[in-house]
This record gives sequence, C-alpha cells and structure tokens, in this order.
Amino acid sequence: MTEVAAQLKDSQLKDWRFSIDGEGIAWAIFDREGESANALGRRPIEELNAIIERVEAEVRAKSVRGLVIMSGKERGYIVGADIREFESFQTEQQVIDSLKPVNAIFERIEKLPVPVVAALHGVCVGGGLELILACHYRIATRDDSTRVGFPEVKLGIFPGFNGTARSIRQVGPMAAMQTMLTGGMIRASTAKGLGFIDQLVGSPGELRWAARKAVLQNRRSTKADTAKMLLTKWPVRGLLAAKIRSETAKKVREDHYPAPFRLIDLFEEYGGDLDAMKSAETKAFAPLMISDTSRNLRRVFRLTELLKNQAPRGFKWRPSRVHVIGAGTMGADIAGVCVASGMEVTLQDISPEQLEKGIKAQGKLLGRKFKTKATKDAAKARLIADPEGKGIGHADVIIEAIVERLDVKQKLFADLEGKIKPGAVLATNTSSLKLEDISAPMKDPGRLIGLHFFSPVPQMPLVEVVRGAKTRDDEVKKGATFVTAIDKFPLITKDVPGFLVNKVLTPYMFAAMKRLEEGEDKEKIDEAVRAFGMPMGPIELADNVGLDVCAHVAKILGQSSEGSRLERLVASGRLGKKTGEGFYVWKDGKPVRSSATFSKASLEQLGRELVEPMIAEAQKSLDEGVVETADLVDAGMIFGTGFAPFRGGPLHYKKSLPGAAPAAARRDAAE
Ligand code: NAI
Repeated sequence: MTEVAAQLKDSQLKDWRFSIDGEGIAWAIFDREGESANALGRRPIEELNAIIERVEAEVRAKSVRGLVIMSGKERGYIVGADIREFESFQTEQQVIDSLKPVNAIFERIEKLPVPVVAALHGVCVGGGLELILACHYRIATRDDSTRVGFPEVKLGIFPGFNGTARSIRQVGPMAAMQTMLTGGMIRASTAKGLGFIDQLVGSPGELRWAARKAVLQNRRSTKADTAKMLLTKWPVRGLLAAKIRSETAKKVREDHYPAPFRLIDLFEEYGGDLDAMKSAETKAFAPLMISDTSRNLRRVFRLTELLKNQAPRGFKWRPSRVHVIGAGTMGADIAGVCVASGMEVTLQDISPEQLEKGIKAQGKLLGRKFKTKATKDAAKARLIADPEGKGIGHADVIIEAIVERLDVKQKLFADLEGKIKPGAVLATNTSSLKLEDISAPMKDPGRLIGLHFFSPVPQMPLVEVVRGAKTRDDEVKKGATFVTAIDKFPLITKDVPGFLVNKVLTPYMFAAMKRLEEGEDKEKIDEAVRAFGMPMGPIELADNVGLDVCAHVAKILGQSSEGSRLERLVASGRLGKKTGEGFYVWKDGKPVRSSATFSKASLEQLGRELVEPMIAEAQKSLDEGVVETADLVDAGMIFGTGFAPFRGGPLHYKKSLPGAAPAAARRDAAE
C-alpha cells in the first residue's frame, strides 16, 4: 500500500495522525500526545472534528472511499472521555455546551456516505465505545485485553455521547441496558455475541488488513433484530423498565446512586424513539454530572490512582514467586489471589489436612476465574503444596499468615531469615502484633514489613503495607510494588495498633454496641448506617467478623468490653455468624431480621451520630501520621471497609458537615 502525501498538516494534529492511502482509504490514528492512554478530551475532539471535515471534503471530491479509526497506542484503544476535564463544570448549561459538539461530530461520522470502520485492540470503554457505535462496522482482536463497556454508572453518570440510544439500536434494549447499568468490562468474544463487535481477528497485526477489506467490501454492521427491538415498543417497554428498576433497586439505593434510575427513566420514556432519546439523554445527563454524588465518585476514582501511586514508579524490583506460610482462612486466599495474578506460589502449613483443604478450595476458585482449559490448568499448576517449605529459598516475597501468637511468629521469622534469597521480602499478615516485637529476634529486623490483607481476600481491594519502626524504606517500596502486582491497592501505614483501617473502624463499632446496650434497636442501628451508605451495619458486621475477634481487637485497641453484652455473648459461645448466633440469630448465612420499619428522619439522625466516632478517629489518625494525607485516610476507609463511596470518604464527608469551612476552602488534594 503506498501512502500518498495527503496528510493534514502536522502542526494541526497533536493527538491524531491522519493519512489517505493509495486505495483512497483514510486512516485516523488516535495517539494522544504525552499520555499513555487515549482519553477523549477537548483537543482530541477538536482534532477529530478537523479530520471529519477533511474526510467529508475528500468524499465529496470522490477521493476517499472509507475511513478507519484506530489507536496508535500499543495497548488500549480509548479509555473514555477525559474525566480530568469534568471538574471544570459548575452548571448544567456548561455540561450541555460541552456535549453538543461531540454529539454533532459523532452524528456526522454516522452520516458519512462511505464506510467508517473502527478497528480496536485493548480497552474501549465509555466515550470510546460511544464513538465506535457511531461507526458503521467494528473489528476487534480476540485478545484478553480487548474489552468494551460503559463504566459511567461507577462515576455517577451514564453515557452522554448518545451512547444510550446507539447501544439500544445496536444490541437491543436488554443487552444495552445491562451493559450500561452494570458498568462491567465485556470480553471481545462476548461483545461479538451481543452485537457490539462485528468481526474478530486473532492479533493486532491483522487489524489493518481486516479494516482495509471491510472498507473495500463496504461492510455494514447488522443492527439489533426486530425481535430484540420489540422490547422498545409500548407497553412492553414499560414492563421491561419496571422489571429493570426493581432489579436495580435490589442492588443500589436510588437516594445514594441516582444515575441508574435516571437511565431507566430515560429508556422508559424515550426508548421507542431513539432520536428523541439522544436529546433527552443530554438533558438528563447534565444534572448528574454536576451532582455531589458524581463529584465524589470521581474523587474515588482519583483515590484509586493515588493508592496505585503508593508503589514507586520506575522501581526495578519485580516479584514473580511467592511463598505463603499458613493455609488457613487468610493464607490460602492470599495464595489464590497471587496465583490469579500470574505469580507462582508455594503454600506451606504444619497441618497436612489444612494444606490440602486450602489447595483444593483455591483450585476450585481458580477453575471458576479462568475461562479456558489451558488457562485453568496453567493457574492450578502455579499453586504448589509445599509442606517442607522448599519454595522459601526461591521466593521473591514470603508472607506469613499463621496463628496470631508472638512467640510462634518470632521463631518463624528468625528461622526464615537464614533461608531466604537476598533481596526477598519478608512479610507478616499480623492484625494485632507489633512488627518491632515480631522482628526482635531477627538479625536484620529492617527487612520485615506487614502486608495486612482484609477478609475475604479475593473481594477486598486494599492491603495495608505496614512500616515498622525499624523497617527499611526499600522493603516498604517492594511491599507496595508487590501489592499492585497482585492487582490490589497498597496503603502504606505506620505500625500502630489496628494500623489505619481497624483503628478507625473499632471506635465506631464499639460506640454502636454501646448504643445497643443503652436500649437502641439493633436493626435500627444497622438500617441507619446502611441508609448512610455503608454496605453493612456495625452490629451485623460484628457478627460477621466474629464476636471473639471483636473482643480481642477491643483489648488491643484499649476499648473496654468488660461486663458488656459482647463479653456475655462470647462467654456463652455465641460468636456470631460462624456459630449461628451472636447479636442476631443466623439462618442460611443471613441474619434473621424483624419486619420493623423506622422513619427516614430518625434513621438519618441516628446514621449521622453512629458514624461520628469513625470521623473523629479518622481525623486523629491523620493527626498522628498513621498515613500521610487526608486523601489516603479516605481511600483506606473506602477500599478497606466500603465507607459510602458517594460521600467521598470520612474526612471528605466531615467537610460537608455544618460548621465546616466554606466550599471554596474545601478542595482536597485529590480534586
Ligand atoms: P487460621 O487459623 O485460619 O490459619 C492459620 C493457619 O496457620 C492454620 O492452617 C495453621 O495450621 C497454620 N499454622 C500455624 N502455625 C504454623 C506454623 N508454625 N507453620 C506453618 N503453618 C502454621 O488463621 P487466619 O484467620 O488465616 O489468620 C492468620 C493470620 O492472619 C493471623 O496472624 C491473623 O491475625 C491475620 N489476619 C486474619 C484476618 C482474618 O480476618 N481472619 C484478617 C487479617 C489478618
């Protein structure tokens, strides 16, 4: 193929490359300057506008027979709109004004009389998926990294570049609504089955050729068939909307997360007229974008970046082998998570039964996680039972998750020190012992770190990387690097009782138990906290954690439980969920609740009061330097406990309380 010199002037394009080849195919390659990923910000959109103008002119002159839109990044197509630019919007009108030109360009792409082909490899989500839905034909690589999706609901919004209407038209309302409401990432093969993608190719190298062929053969996508589109007709649409609404309400509360409900309203009202839906989408989108909920969810997104940055950039050390000692509740799951992210893991336990049980359980989980036989087998082969600890000398990271006893841990680490390879990380998963005490008998106590995982390990995204008084900096850096390598968020904390998360959580849990002792209804307490936005109430949480564990934590953190109901329950063997009774009676893994209802106002008041101790302890932890910044405190509590994400974290929430500084003075570092 000979490229002709029909280039847009270099000076005109910074984020795209544009050329027209000898066959009259125009190639628009998105390669955002100075960025590792392509986000659709203002400048790329302006440049895309110039490209489309040029293509329109060439088509009129009959010198272009088709357009292909690709990415110039090695991995990844388009990660969506540029959310950094969202923060400049203060009014609905500003949002509407920013959407209009984008929607006009997408409309012109759709209306081009020549075929427009999107050819993608890697992630294509949000605004990226909306762009390719405006194209006439979509080709994707079969690669595991190729995913499409609409993650907007996670930011408190929904698609705003007319993706609501275009996705319904392309894949039908069921698949479109589900994709928009769940925010999940869909593999290329599934996306093809649903109709988002028209053609799959084996590798990125085949994309250009396949796209060329698609243009030359004037291929067009097949839209959702009549049967699927029948669901957009009244009254079926109304029934479908009602069903989706009730399913959604089971997962999220409308008062906390309005975006999914506004999307369902939009579908219910306009799903039968997709052109009308496009303009209604803009109107419904604008208030969501400037809402506190969306601002706070965007803040949470930035907090994830902040946590990932706890791992130093450019740090050369890369772990690939892990040895886990202790195959109990925590150790087995830690091993499984490491295997799932590609590491080779040896797992050790003094109890052969426990070791076998752990390996079996992880094998099952890995079997479910991986899709093909080859990847399942490979994952299972990476998990090795190692009763004698042969893997210790080869491992890059050794994690101890044995019984919580100082003497046993001390002996283990003193023994491990002589067996590990130079540069390997030694970590304890202790939840209550001081690193300095554990490392006391070690020759080099500076190498011990804490890696405090949360239960259940596969679901909990945070790991506290604990810096003991003697721990060397490099070991902490390795710990944080390892945590990001297993796809978790690291939070570097000081070695204080409870580290950050349990230190902040405990006073709140005990204050709730005290309210219970004083006669408050346990169900009202739990409901008030759920209404505030926590995933679970404190009383139910205590039963889940285990009341014996709670009593132990109380002791470590200096909370008195003497003579309390907690103490009486523990003494009588009622330890919560695991024994079938604690504060609640448990049936089939769920607490038995009464049907009592409470007024919204009383729940709101009680919810605010119940979280107060958590807010106070969060502030205290910041003042004591347990973690470095207020944003890190918030990130730790959101990802370690599920603290209401739409409230932005305990310290961010504190600023919204009466008596806090005015809004202008309330900007966080993460904003
Ligand atoms: P667990 O009792 O379920 O498992 C401990 C395992 O270690 C058992 O299988 C036991 O046979 C084995 N073990 C004991 N001594 C050993 C030794 N010397 N060498 C090899 N294996 C040995 O305990 P769990 O809950 O998994 O806790 C482990 C550690 O993780 C503790 O330090 C605990 O404080 C900490 N932790 C626990 C959390 C939880 O939610 N369970 C959360 C965070 C930390």
